[in-house]
Amino acid sequence: MLHGKRILLVIGGGIAAYKSLDLIRRLQDRGAKVRAILTKAGTQFVTPLSVGSLTGDKVFQELFSLTDENEMGHIELSRDADLLVVAPATADLMAKMAHGHANDLASTALLATDKRVLVAPAMNVRMWLHPATQRNLETLRADGVAVVGPNEGGMACGEFGPGRMSEVPEIIAAIEKALAPAARPLAGHHVVVTSGPTREAIDPVRYISNHSSGKQGHAIARAAAEAGASVTLVTGPVALPDPPGVKTIHVESARDMMAAVEAALPASIAIFAAAVADWRVADIAGGKIKKGAGGPPTLAFVENPDILATISQRTTDRPRLVVGFAAETENVVDNARAKLARKGCDLIVANDVATGTGTFGGDSNTVHLVTADGVETWERQSKDAVAAALVSRIAERIAAR
Ligand code: C5P
Repeated sequence: MLHGKRILLVIGGGIAAYKSLDLIRRLQDRGAKVRAILTKAGTQFVTPLSVGSLTGDKVFQELFSLTDENEMGHIELSRDADLLVVAPATADLMAKMAHGHANDLASTALLATDKRVLVAPAMNVRMWLHPATQRNLETLRADGVAVVGPNEGGMACGEFGPGRMSEVPEIIAAIEKALAPAARPLAGHHVVVTSGPTREAIDPVRYISNHSSGKQGHAIARAAAEAGASVTLVTGPVALPDPPGVKTIHVESARDMMAAVEAALPASIAIFAAAVADWRVADIAGGKIKKGAGGPPTLAFVENPDILATISQRTTDRPRLVVGFAAETENVVDNARAKLARKGCDLIVANDVATGTGTFGGDSNTVHLVTADGVETWERQSKDAVAAALVSRIAERIAAR
């Protein structure tokens, strides 16, 4: 199953680097093609000659190497692989990755890649248990980095505890898992997701918007990317970072969002989680509206384009599966059923936003999945869990067609 896979192995500076030499051989036994980056600290433990003799390729060491940049730039190097494996991943390498440093070839390649990354941490037990390392580990996990180990046991420094790098067969199993098609049921699909609120201008300094945080839509975009899809996220203004590995387009108004969604087509799946403003101000004032003797202004509204309905009813390039959201305060399921029919989409995720549910801006969500065939109610769970469950349901439906 690793046959023909291209692995870029980053060897950091730890005593466990000797195991990485064997890792190269065992990956090659399985038909993988291995290229290696050796950090400066790594050269203290294994030599470029041993690494290069095993990979049968040059060993990449310098960020600003003229020959390397001519033959293959560091960006290309980081993308010309199916998976990046950092073994051993030292505390320093993990810190650099977590904070986005790019001051040597290894950290730059790890920041520049658009591929999955697996780390096999190896360090002294105190360094591993230090809150700083644990924080970095959490950050890496949230960024979608896969982690194998470390194991517990005696360490080269004489201490005992967690910090030993995983053994080669364990690392191979983790590599196989990271590359497994089963874990990536949306591989080969383009998914468009909308998220967040829209902002509708009144004048150059004022706008009308809503309380959508974008947390659910962003979680869906992340989950779809983790499921192997190529994802375009069209988001209104939110206080969230762009999800890793997702093409994110920032928009303000409903009309901008509509245009960005149309430009992103074709897609096999569209998930419209944004809380799009229903109306916009009919005549946006060219200058700031002044407070004056005339009293407060009267605003006239016009309807915004309905992105969900427009895309659902397209005759060309209609995504195979269109998913809408319904935020309701009462008759949640009945209203969602009616919306499914009215808009022409395939699935509605209905959430109860009545006072006290904490759905708006909160971290969890209670949803009902409404299709033409029936209704499924999911227990209250985190927005990440809703996203993962929704993406796996979508993958089942796409596979069944
Ligand atoms: O009609 P309502 O706003 O309740 O429908 C909600 C669903 O429709 C959501 O999926 C939302 O993203 C989508 N929608 C849209 N464009 C609009 C209004 C809503 O895509 N103008």
